[in-house]
Amino acid sequence: MKKIYLIGIGTGKLDYLTLQAIDTMKKVDVFFLLEKEGERKKEFLKIRKEILERCRDRGTYRVVTAKIPKRRKSGKSYKEGVKTWRQQKAEVMTGLIKDKMKDSESGAFLVWGDPSLYDGHLEILQHILKEGRINFEYEVIPGITSVQVLTAKHKIPLNRIGETIVITTGRRLKEYSPVEIRNTVVLLDSYSTFKHFKDADIDIYWGGYLGSKDEILLSGKLKDIIEELKKIRSEAKKKKGWLMDTYILRRSEYLGNSTEE
Ligand SMILES: C[S@@+](CC[C@H](N)C(=O)[O-])C[C@H]1O[C@@H](n2cnc3c(N)ncnc32)[C@H](O)[C@@H]1O
Repeated sequence: MKKIYLIGIGTGKLDYLTLQAIDTMKKVDVFFLLEKEGERKKEFLKIRKEILERCRDRGTYRVVTAKIPKRRKSGKSYKEGVKTWRQQKAEVMTGLIKDKMKDSESGAFLVWGDPSLYDGHLEILQHILKEGRINFEYEVIPGITSVQVLTAKHKIPLNRIGETIVITTGRRLKEYSPVEIRNTVVLLDSYSTFKHFKDADIDIYWGGYLGSKDEILLSGKLKDIIEELKKIRSEAKKKKGWLMDTYILRRSEYLGNSTEE
């Protein structure tokens, strides 16, 4: 039986690879590297190749790169759009597993951060198995997420005593009112959605390109640093052509959970 590993590789720095990830990479026959059509983030492919070169001797493994279509904005809802895009990605991944590895071989997808956090690979593999066109075993190797790197760099816990943590996207953050923001982690935000909360008594802990040589960190009262943050974001985007950032919005005053004794 073929075996597929989804290996979390951390965010941008070789140091963030776990021993389990390295040990797993050592036994894989073929690595599938996916590249988004028209992707400007060539660095992602480069980092994955560097990881392989560091963990494996040349000539002892195969690499297959494949293009996956970019998610197109259509008239459909966001959810429908993502569903169509994942279906296209499933086609590509099915082809790779079917044609590029022999029975009894193992293959791996190197997943940014951790495969369980805002990443489609796991659900796509499950969808492929459900379709029943091909069969394989699979295993998930956890990785260090952008959220963990953010809290480590700012030297803050992810929650204060007994505090609830909300993890969401920029798209969903817009639906929150300022009073609902207590301890909210935000990923996938292209539009500086934190600006909706600029008048509330909220602290922000922000990180761009976390774990990489271009890492930028900023923290403080949102209302005091919002202009600086907007400027940093737009300059970074202009300079590199893309920006990946994660942040925590945290109500400054924490009184504990009222239900606690
Ligand atoms: C598709 S999600 C993948 C998350 C990933 N699986 C993880 O564990 O962090 C992409 C989002 O993760 C966050 N992200 C990933 N890598 C990052 C990095 N190096 N610095 C800052 N944010 C990052 C950004 O919010 C980005 O929009």
